[in-house]
Amino acid sequence: MAFDRSKWVWMNGELIPWDRATIHVSAHGLHYGSGVFEGMRCYETPAGPAVFRMRAHFKRFFASARTYGMALPYTKEQLADAVFRLVRRNGFRSCYVRPICYYGSDSLAVQPLKCPVEVAIFAWPWAPLLGVEKQTEGVRVTISPWVKFHSSMMPTTAKACGQYLNSMIALNEAVRHGFDEAILLDTDGNLAEGSGENIFIVRGGTVATNNDTDSILMGITRDSVIQIAQDLDYPVHIRTLRIEDLLSADEAFFTGTASEVTPIIEVDGRKIGTGVRGPVTERIQKAFFNATAGKEPKYKNWLELVVKTSSPRRSVRSTTGTGRARSGRTGIRNTVAD
Ligand SMILES: Cc1ncc(COP(=O)(O)O)c(C=O)c1O
Repeated sequence: MAFDRSKWVWMNGELIPWDRATIHVSAHGLHYGSGVFEGMRCYETPAGPAVFRMRAHFKRFFASARTYGMALPYTKEQLADAVFRLVRRNGFRSCYVRPICYYGSDSLAVQPLKCPVEVAIFAWPWAPLLGVEKQTEGVRVTISPWVKFHSSMMPTTAKACGQYLNSMIALNEAVRHGFDEAILLDTDGNLAEGSGENIFIVRGGTVATNNDTDSILMGITRDSVIQIAQDLDYPVHIRTLRIEDLLSADEAFFTGTASEVTPIIEVDGRKIGTGVRGPVTERIQKAFFNATAGKEPKYKNWLELVVKTSSPRRSVRSTTGTGRARSGRTGIRNTVAD
């Protein structure tokens, strides 16, 4: 898919035409991968486009930057406002949103010292990463020969640009061998995660996923799915997962902003359960898509409306003490709190 170059990009505080959103070849971030980023989705809802879990994404964005000692020159409020302006200006009803913060051009000493900290946000309509049909059919995966780096080597809970070479090499190798996705093990030989997804397994009506001690990025979709599974009355166990847990599971699935919820039906040619999307996965998927579509009142506080309404009723602050205003009619959040 080629990007639509007629669109707009938010860069260092301004909305500018797509073709002007460029960086210099000497940028530190280009040479050393010295940047952090986020990926979030804006979904179409009955109240208009709304960004899913934006505050959680910006919280992680700031935490990733702090981990690498980068001082973001904007507040979360300013960045949230930039996302809303960007989506509105581009006229998207739904899209994937990519904020990135990186060291720009000043010197190529490994220590960035005086390199400017640059921030950009752009967006484009993006189908589910592993394919929309795979959300029903499921994906065939392989256990990668490439191991996920341990958090003593690089902080796995930060979403940093250079870290993705580990994902890229694992995914390239998997695709070269005809698989849809790779699963990377951690340095102890337990499951870590996919190249861009967290892993869940289902056995005997119990849902399990691993934790930050297992060299994973703490996915925001993972967090949403844990809550959804609990709300559907499935016991959820957070524990280290071994390869045999995956191979003997009734069902397994990936979660991630780009791939959403995608069943895993085969690992290295061995079927997981019956080899098709399982009923628990399907139920969780359905609840997740209802949440992102603004159809489930329970999860409406996960959505941030892109188009603010000026109705006095909607601009009234909530009385919950959270400082959030809610849309009177839809219940979907209308402003962003830190
Ligand atoms: C390595 C990795 N793990 C897990 C995830 C899932 O995280 P989230 O659900 O926040 O998108 C991602 C997605 O960005 C990822 O890149």
